[in-house]
Amino acid sequence: MKRFDRFRLDTTNHCLWRGDERVPLAPKAFDLLRYLVEHADRLVTQEEILEALWTDTFVSHEVVKKYVLGIRKVLGDRPDKPTFIRTIPRRGYQFVAPVTDEARTSVAPALAAPGSIVDRRAARGRLEGCFELARGGERQIVFVTGSAGVGKTTLVDLFLQHAGRRPDVRIARGQCLEGFGGQEAYYPMLEAVGQLVRAEDDGRLIRTLGKQAPTWLMQFPSFVRVDEREALQREILGTTRERMVREICEALEAITADQSLVLVLEDLHWADPSTLDVVSALARRRGPSRLLLLATRRPAVAVHRSGLSRLHQDLVVHQLCQEIRLEAFRPPEVSEYLALEFDHAAFAADLAGPIHRHSGGKPLFVSAIVRDLVTSGVIVREGGAWTLTAPVERIEPGVPESLQQMLNVQFDQLTEGEQSVLRRASVVGQRFSTWALGDGKEADAAGVDDVCEGLAERRLFIRPACIGELADGTVSAHYEFHHSLYHQAVYRRLSEVSRSKLHRSIGERLEPLFAPGTPALAAELALHFEKAHDYGRAVRYLMRAADNAAQRFAVRDSLDVLQHAFGLLPRLPLQQRFELEVQILERIGDAHYVLGAMVESAAAFETESALAAEAGDTAVEVQAQSCLARPLGLLDPDRAIAVLQEAAAASARLHDPAGQARVDMLAAGTRLLYDTWRAGDARTCAAAQAIHQRSADRQPPGFDRMVYAHVQSLQGDCAAALETASVGVPKRHETRGAMMHLWALSGQIQALLQLGRFGEALRIIRTSREMAEKNGSDPWLFLYREAWLRTLAMDFPGAQRLCEELMRCSSVYPTGQAKTIGRLAAGYEALDQGRADEARRCFEDIRDPAETPRFFLHWYWRIQAQVGLALAWLRAPHTANARVEAERLSEAALSTADPNLQALAWETRARVAMAEADWSDAEQSIAQAAAAVTRSDTPISAWRVHGAAWDLCRKTGRDEAAAGHRARALTHISALVNSFEPDEPLRLTFLGAPAVRRIREEAFVTEA
Ligand SMILES: Nc1ncnc2c1ncn2[C@@H]1O[C@H](COP(=O)(O)OP(=O)(O)OP(=O)(O)O)[C@@H](O)[C@H]1O
Ligand SMILES: [Mg+2]
Repeated sequence: MKRFDRFRLDTTNHCLWRGDERVPLAPKAFDLLRYLVEHADRLVTQEEILEALWTDTFVSHEVVKKYVLGIRKVLGDRPDKPTFIRTIPRRGYQFVAPVTDEARTSVAPALAAPGSIVDRRAARGRLEGCFELARGGERQIVFVTGSAGVGKTTLVDLFLQHAGRRPDVRIARGQCLEGFGGQEAYYPMLEAVGQLVRAEDDGRLIRTLGKQAPTWLMQFPSFVRVDEREALQREILGTTRERMVREICEALEAITADQSLVLVLEDLHWADPSTLDVVSALARRRGPSRLLLLATRRPAVAVHRSGLSRLHQDLVVHQLCQEIRLEAFRPPEVSEYLALEFDHAAFAADLAGPIHRHSGGKPLFVSAIVRDLVTSGVIVREGGAWTLTAPVERIEPGVPESLQQMLNVQFDQLTEGEQSVLRRASVVGQRFSTWALGDGKEADAAGVDDVCEGLAERRLFIRPACIGELADGTVSAHYEFHHSLYHQAVYRRLSEVSRSKLHRSIGERLEPLFAPGTPALAAELALHFEKAHDYGRAVRYLMRAADNAAQRFAVRDSLDVLQHAFGLLPRLPLQQRFELEVQILERIGDAHYVLGAMVESAAAFETESALAAEAGDTAVEVQAQSCLARPLGLLDPDRAIAVLQEAAAASARLHDPAGQARVDMLAAGTRLLYDTWRAGDARTCAAAQAIHQRSADRQPPGFDRMVYAHVQSLQGDCAAALETASVGVPKRHETRGAMMHLWALSGQIQALLQLGRFGEALRIIRTSREMAEKNGSDPWLFLYREAWLRTLAMDFPGAQRLCEELMRCSSVYPTGQAKTIGRLAAGYEALDQGRADEARRCFEDIRDPAETPRFFLHWYWRIQAQVGLALAWLRAPHTANARVEAERLSEAALSTADPNLQALAWETRARVAMAEADWSDAEQSIAQAAAAVTRSDTPISAWRVHGAAWDLCRKTGRDEAAAGHRARALTHISALVNSFEPDEPLRLTFLGAPAVRRIREEAFVTEA
């Protein structure tokens, strides 16, 4: 905000103020004035002005001159004796008035021009009282209620003018919009937060948001440096609605720690459900906050908005909010209004009675009637004073019954041009840009601007709102209807046909502005096309709007929008319907999946698949089945496998090699992960990968690739697995990629575990767990991976604790996996403690298909249990049984492609052979084990293999070779330990495990 003389230049809202009055200024004139003021210390040449303000168009010096003239007129400046702008002939201009910078934060944004305002002392007094409490750190939630036009907004404006004068007060304002606004999650909150951020110069607020509310900062990509976006992106992945709500509460608390904030939410009766969540959360939080949340609302307007009524009621009952109920003016207030409006003319008191009677005291009607009296010449200004042209007693009958009638009369008196502009404006909405009303031609644009300016000057129907930027950066003047009833009055006059035509025309005018950077436009466009009966386009934009909501983690709102779109489908011609229906269903399935509603997710994909089958569209059917397999993987792996089998078969009919490769990879990969290892499936995956690589630039990575990353590390191809998984970490701000990301993390962790890079795996697990906790989402996947890591690091009690936690807390997913891993850890713990029988029972349970259902990698855990079982028999000691189990183990492990499992199987067999004193078998087994670890270069089984080789060499009297193996075992042990952070307790756990101690401390004896 710049101040000079009596003027304030509000660079945030692009407007000029003279005292409390907003001065109308065309956009370019404002820009020019701003440029001059911002360079007030020097001469600004005409070339510089042209370059700065007319970058893309050629205009002559004359145009600049014309604008300067206009500005001077507005400022009341004289060229011969300039107070503000001095002309330096043939060179340029200099702004000569002293300019001061005013703290931007102390100014209320976009206040309405106050005019003659009746001071609602009692209501304002209560507001001031609440404000004082808020300033003292006691948060205040205040609802200003009352019927349409009773003066809620006016009261808030009046209060803000006073509050805004204090130096340490921030003000932010969000407007809830009727219609599409209710479909845009957090619409008013984002407007308010955007205002706050834009009003700050020093970046402090951006830093606060970055720290406290990254999910909100991410909604304003232009405030985030490109290099920071990716980190922020990672930080917010998988965010839930709860997290977004909590974060904005925390951020507002941080912002109000040292400075008061008045947050105004206008017309809360039109708010989206997410915004109501924020209001509810803000009201219920306990910590100190210098926040005054001021919400205006009408009494319940429709049944489906009863969410607000319930919230309001609940907050009242719990004394968490204040309500200031506004009533219509009483006669003395009407009199006060008239006195203010007409310079205390003597007739004010007399006229108050009739006007009060006819308006019911409703301020909106009072002011409309007064305006009407002036327009119709009943009240006139003569010789500088207001007078009545008829006696008061005779005035009464001229006043129309209803506002609509009165406005109709006013409207009919306008020129055709004015009427046409207002009609179009009423279709755009309560607030509109003059740009939207034009038809794209320069002359027309100027004409619309002039008409709006003229209407606003005469205070007819509209008033200036601000100079604002459109989605594509074009600056345009914005106006708004005096009141929503004025807006509706004009809109209601339109016939159904012209409404529909105008909505289409406005929709098409706005459509080119729609781009990835202007997501909010989607809901608005959807509304226009729906009203234009262009349901196909409406549905398409609704889907975009649903995507926006999902990107704001308001997945439930996204579902609402999708259901609305779904409801429009029957109005579409059949041939258009199918394509949109399947797209909507797919989004619905995704949304349910993200919410963890697996059954509903599967149902949506199933419907999609059935629809596609009916239509004979195999490509869509295959796509739907591929999606369906995801929720089924958790609900019923066998069905997931069967569905993918069908998809793969169907896909063969499509003659699309890349598409076929995707489905094949998904089907074969799912079988490998959820059923059993088959070499044929592994080959199918590899062949599909080769096809993907050839068409890499045309095909974005799909979910199939994340499945493949897991397959790769199970083949010992861990470096490649890491690479495959890394493409699943989304680079862009995408919620629909959340599942991909989850699987990508899982793939990365699994590869790191296989590589023995425990520390890195643990870091990913920990950050992801923290993130899930922040998001209030279930961290099941990371608990499983940590249990896996703890098993490998021989922290068996730790692994069991995690599995118990999983079984206790996870209500969504089947618990077979947790039970199995927990049981395995219990078996190994018993083995370490010499309780071989107990250990054996644990391992036998795992092998039993009745005890262990199918789940992700169930066969891997069964083979691990098989290792344990052979060792348990060795400890029993029962060498014969150990041999039987070792043979079974070899068979199972060698049927996989996992070098770790194979090395473990050979190593176990070598130990059994040593117990049998079958030195030749032992030698051969060790050689095979060594070959397996060499192939995969992994320390997780290598240390064990060299440990066994050390034992064998000592037993066979080859001391030198024994020492070599021991040294190598120790090297691998060190590599594992050193992969952890220096202070990680798991280091000591691993080093203290009996099998490790035996190697490290030669004197340490175990029974192995
Ligand atoms: N205190 C006041 N003094 C003078 N005029 C007023 C006052 N309050 C309201 N008005 C007149 O009534 C009109 C409507 O008031 P306002 O917009 O504040 O109503 P509202 O309660 O916010 O309505 P809505 O529920 O539709 O938002 C104003 O434009 C103004 O002309
Ligand atoms: Mg209002």
